[in-house]
Order: sequence, then structure tokens, then C-alpha cells
Amino acid sequence: MAIAFLYTYVLAVSAMTVAVNAQAFAPLKFAGVNIAGFDFGCGTDGTCIISQAVPPVYQLSGVDGLGQMQHFVKDDGYNVFRLPVGWQYLTYNQSTGILNETQFSNYNMLVSDCLSTGAYCEIDIHNYARYDGQIIGQGGPSNEIFAELWFNIASYWKNEPKVIFGVMNEPHDIPMILRFFGNKYAVTAIRSASGASTQMILLPGNNYTSAQTFVSSGSAEALAMVRNPDGTFTNLIMDVHKYLDYDNSGTHAACVTNNIEDAWYPLTTWLRANGRQALNTETGGGNVDSCVGYMSQQIGYQAAQSDVMLGYLGWSAGSFATNYVLSQVPYYNGTGWNDTLLVSMAMSPVTNMLVASVV
Ligand SMILES: *[C@@H]1O[C@H](CO)[C@@H](O)[C@H](O)[C@H]1NC(C)=O
Ligand SMILES: *[C@@H]1O[C@H](CO)[C@@H](O)[C@H](O)[C@H]1NC(C)=O
Ligand SMILES: *[C@@H]1O[C@H](CO)[C@@H](O)[C@H](O)[C@H]1NC(C)=O
Ligand SMILES: *[C@@H]1O[C@H](CO)[C@@H](O)[C@H](O)[C@H]1NC(C)=O
Ligand SMILES: *[C@@H]1O[C@H](CO)[C@@H](O)[C@H](O)[C@H]1NC(C)=O
Repeated sequence: MAIAFLYTYVLAVSAMTVAVNAQAFAPLKFAGVNIAGFDFGCGTDGTCIISQAVPPVYQLSGVDGLGQMQHFVKDDGYNVFRLPVGWQYLTYNQSTGILNETQFSNYNMLVSDCLSTGAYCEIDIHNYARYDGQIIGQGGPSNEIFAELWFNIASYWKNEPKVIFGVMNEPHDIPMILRFFGNKYAVTAIRSASGASTQMILLPGNNYTSAQTFVSSGSAEALAMVRNPDGTFTNLIMDVHKYLDYDNSGTHAACVTNNIEDAWYPLTTWLRANGRQALNTETGGGNVDSCVGYMSQQIGYQAAQSDVMLGYLGWSAGSFATNYVLSQVPYYNGTGWNDTLLVSMAMSPVTNMLVASVV
């Protein structure tokens, strides 16, 4: 009896192992999309005109961001969303680390909507390492103020393992990225709030978080020195962006490159040599055949490097108009959601079969 029982138990455990392996067989861990809108009005100089924010939250008279995310999870197998927000939005236009209760609870509606889908949800401070034209810690708000902002954000979600902390969207033209100490301050603040390194923190490099110049610009070297307070690198993930248009600006419909030779090869070579990983939190192109082709190649390459590449997120769904050149906004026709061409033909895990299911 005991032996029979044990045998059954062993069979059950082996069946579970098979199921887990089948899931793990899809190489990439993450696929998803940005749900933009709380960042609208933010410019690359770190100015955010908060009256121009367009929350993708139905209760705030916005688009149905929850419906979009539920659709992406259910119909496409997406498992992560990036939720951009301007620093000024959260503090109601005050250059401080103290969150305005009303503004934060507005943004939290989107984060809660995201978490309710079972997906991972990235908090993205969309300020280009600046505040009203001035660089953090170099004329703008001090690193201590920036750390206070992150301490307050992380304190709120300290027990939520599926919240990812994106330290900063697209730093650029920072004299010596080595001196963008904001990364170090943010990591220390987040870890001291949550007490553990179980949540992912995304570290941004210079040149708009360029995947292409991550190594050559010195970002890799600088970010490699950022550690958790316990001295480890656990869950400190490199944040990289890359578009597929001719000038990598993400403003043109046509795609001209899969970025493999110029960006993903040098990046992944460095990551592997240094035992680190990266997440591609912005990529995209127009809803045209050239982008379907090149994007499929890019994702295929990322999947082949999945020991160091965690996955990709498209730019962008959320509050964008459906005719925005890089729109990944799904269209609700009254009974169901239709995806854009690029999502349905290249980025959806249901189509490319390259992403593990974690939801
Ligand atoms: C935010 O603050 C800036 C600078 O202090 C000011 O110019 C702007 O009018 C303010 N915007 C809003 C929406 O309060
Ligand atoms: C917080 O923001 C709201 C607008 O959402 C504003 O009315 C209120 O005055 C702000 N509170 C503080 C303390 O600044
Ligand atoms: C930034 O990256 C782009 C490609 O992603 C490159 O063309 C440009 O030269 C880089 N700029 C600097 C200052 O490194
Ligand atoms: C609405 O979208 C769904 C999902 O893509 C599709 O199955 C259905 O045929 C569409 N209905 C109409 C009337 O277009
Ligand atoms: C939605 O997708 C379905 C199936 O691909 C298609 O038949 C329908 O025309 C689409 N509807 C709209 C409004 O885009």
C-alpha cells in the first residue's frame, strides 16, 4: 500500500516536471507592451505638463486600459506591461520625492488593473533622468530626492512580487554616465523599502537606453558597478530600448533593420561575459510588412539568446490614437479585440511561440 502510494506520488511528480519543462521550453520569459498615457506631456528635457497626461483608465474618463491588458494576456499570452508615468504627475508638479495622494491613487488604478490580470507590471518614471530641464543629481533634484521618490514608491508595493521597478526612462546626454548615480541611489532606496531583492529593478544606460551603444558608450561598465545593498546583483536587470527604423528614433513606419549585428550581438556578448541579463522594454515599428519581417528576426534572435535576454515590450498601446505611427493599441469592435498587424503577426507569443507562459 505504502509502495503503491509512493509510486503514484512519483508518477504525479514526474508529470508535473514534464508540464513545467514544456512551459520552460519557450525560451523568453517576458513579452508585453507599454500602456502609455500617464506620461503624455513629458518631453526629453524632463518637463512634464501634467495637464496633458491621458490616463489609460476608464474610471478617469480614459481608454479602457484594463480591457486592453486583459485582452493581451488572454488572447496573446502577454505577461508583462510597462506603465509610464511622469515624475511631476506623481508629486503634483512638486520637485520632491513625496507622492501626492490623489495623483498616486490615480496611477495606482492602472497598476492595480495591471496586477489584476496576473501579469508583471513595471513602474516606469518617464523623465529622461531629468526634472524640468535639469539632470538629476547634476543641477536638477538631488540624488537624495530621487531616492526618496523611489523609497516611497517601493514602500507601497514592497510585498508585490510582480511589480518591477524601472528606475528611469531613457537617460540621455548625461555627462559621464558614471555620474548618473541616480541608479545607485534608486537601488539602495528600493531595497531598503522592500527589504529583499525578490523584485526586479531595471537599470537604464545613457543615449536613450540604447541597446546599440550600451557597451560602446560606457553604460555597461557604469551599470555593472551598481549593486544591491548586500553586495549582490540579484534581480538588477539592464534596461535597453531599440527601434527598427533607419535612425532608431521610433518615429517612422518603415523598418530597415533587425538590429542583430549592431545592437543585440554586442549587447548579449557583454551580458554573457559579465553574467548579467537585460530586458528590452521598448521596441516597435509601423504596422507594415517590413516591420513584421524585421521584428520577427529580432525576436527570434533574442529568443536564441534567452540565457541573457529576458524578453521584449512593444511601444505602444494605452492612450495612443489607433492611427499613431507605432500604434499597438488593440481595437474593440463591440464583441472582441483586434490586434494591430505588428502585434498579431510578429510580437504576440501566440504567433511566435517564443515566450513562456507565466500568467
Ligand atoms: C508646473 O510647474 C512648472 C514649474 O514650476 C510651471 O511652469 C507649470 O505651469 C506647472 N504646471 C502645472 C500644470 O501646474
Ligand atoms: C494633490 O493633487 C490634487 C490634484 O490631484 C490637488 O488638488 C491637491 O492640492 C494636491 N495635494 C497637495 C498636498 O499638494
Ligand atoms: C546613440 O545611439 C544611436 C543608435 O542607437 C547612435 O546612432 C548614436 O551615435 C548614439 N549616440 C551617442 C552619443 O552615443
Ligand atoms: C470582432 O473581433 C473579434 C475578435 O477579433 C472577431 O472574432 C469578430 O469577428 C469581430 N466582429 C466584427 C463584427 O467585426
Ligand atoms: C476584426 O478582426 C476580424 C478577424 O480578423 C475581422 O474579420 C474584422 O473585420 C475585424 N474588425 C475590425 C473592426 O477591425
